[in-house]
Amino acid sequence: MAIVRKDERELEKMYRAGQIVWNALHELRTNVKPGVTTKELDEIAERYTAEHGARPAFKGYMGYPGSLCTSINQEVVHGIPSGRRLLREGDILSMDFGVELDGYYADAAFTVPVGKIAPEREKLLRVTRESLDHAIEKVRPGNRLSDISAAVQTWVESNGYSVVREFVGHGIGTQLHEEPQVPNYVERKNENPRLKEGMVLAIEPMVNAGKPDTRVLKDKWTAVTRDGSYSAHFEHCVAVTKDGPVILTRP
Ligand code: MF3
Ligand code: CO
Repeated sequence: MAIVRKDERELEKMYRAGQIVWNALHELRTNVKPGVTTKELDEIAERYTAEHGARPAFKGYMGYPGSLCTSINQEVVHGIPSGRRLLREGDILSMDFGVELDGYYADAAFTVPVGKIAPEREKLLRVTRESLDHAIEKVRPGNRLSDISAAVQTWVESNGYSVVREFVGHGIGTQLHEEPQVPNYVERKNENPRLKEGMVLAIEPMVNAGKPDTRVLKDKWTAVTRDGSYSAHFEHCVAVTKDGPVILTRP
């Protein structure tokens, strides 16, 4: 399968989907506080999406039961919203959300503190966010995919953390997941295409405070760190343009 490149009109549509994702995530952020359930957050995301004429991208995807992914503390990604799961002061919460609008997808994520959190957790969030910033800088025609992966990995590991191997970023467009895979680590066996104008990549570093290994819980979705260390996740959809990176999932 080849990497699908998008024209101006298609990037415009993806930008519109991306704005809904961004705005929904920001409405969610204002609702994050101790005592709130992850199910309530899921409902807010659904309502916001419906009010803006879009469709939640994750609901029903390979049988995923929620609209939002809510992953707390040692949960890495794909935590399922639940009415029995209450946020507690000091938690870190990753929220991952995607929509489809007019045939095009956008997908983004961030990790936020619940109330006041310990300084080492603040640092984990900061370093993960910075690793995404460094990766986005590499999104230019002529660079290679491994430049993105290396930017994440180098920043994360030089700060004493590790990057998850079992989950990766992805191309995005008329499908939620398109070619290429976008790993957050460099390995010789990975495909390493050159970036070209019109490619759109969902770059999503998943960073563990401890070891990189993960496992999936019996609910078949929730990925957690094997060593119980905390994990953070940030994601943006970024278009390759001749003028450099254009982030579609923020204003
Ligand atoms: N950001 C994740 C991804 O793009 C979210 C997918 S969750 C799923 O892979 F439920 F849709 F699988
Ligand atoms: Co994604």
